[in-house]
Amino acid sequence: MRARVGATLLRVDRIGSTNDLLRALSAGGALEGTVVVAREQTAGRGRLGRVWASPPGGLWLSVLLRPDDPTDPRLGLVVAVGVAEGARRASGVSVVLKWPNDLMLNGRKVGGILVESLPPWAVVGIGLNVDVDPARLPARVRPYAGSLAAGGGRAAVERTLAAVVQHVDEVYAAYRCGAAGAVLSRWRDLCVTLGRPVVVRAGARTIEGVAETVDAQGALLVRRSDGSVTRLLGGDVTVLSEQRGR
Ligand code: BTN
Repeated sequence: MRARVGATLLRVDRIGSTNDLLRALSAGGALEGTVVVAREQTAGRGRLGRVWASPPGGLWLSVLLRPDDPTDPRLGLVVAVGVAEGARRASGVSVVLKWPNDLMLNGRKVGGILVESLPPWAVVGIGLNVDVDPARLPARVRPYAGSLAAGGGRAAVERTLAAVVQHVDEVYAAYRCGAAGAVLSRWRDLCVTLGRPVVVRAGARTIEGVAETVDAQGALLVRRSDGSVTRLLGGDVTVLSEQRGR
């Protein structure tokens, strides 16, 4: 039987990256569901090789999963639903999602998910800015970064951790039981970018159109002005009205 997410929870004060520690633990026999949480990361990383600033005041954790397919693009979306729902419950604010797995509040990014597949494992890193002092963030991200506290949330790292772990366990259990479709429909309900004009940058490609939906495999479908639909499994979305408003 699958162990509950968080059944084993390891706390560290300061570490390079919780994903790296969990990778090492997975090689040493750690169980599925093991969670590593750090007060601070000194070499946190985000998607697409970006630096992820992780000072105290945020929730920086990694979860060890062993799904049938550790490269399944739906994994990040499924976990994002759990994190958004956990953050909402803990803080009382309406965290929403932006494809593929950004957590947003009042138009600012408050969190993200980094899935690293290491068959048979998937190491899923979760970063959530609960109450980080903006002065501790790099100047280039400050205009776009938010926090639950700055968005009016009654946020506390410990309470948020408990809620996030519980909700991630619930969505992952549903995913493992063949109910991924139901979780993706919750993802669509929480998403703010569907139906809006977007630009997606995916490697060397730039696609402009309307973000129509996310399909059953987790791919974003973008309808271009010529009526054609482009299917994307990775990339960065900018909502055009936001970009022009900056
Ligand atoms: C993103 O680019 O949006 C994903 C950010 C993921 C950050 C988290 S913090 C905990 C875990 N450890 C890392 O080094 N990264 C992830």
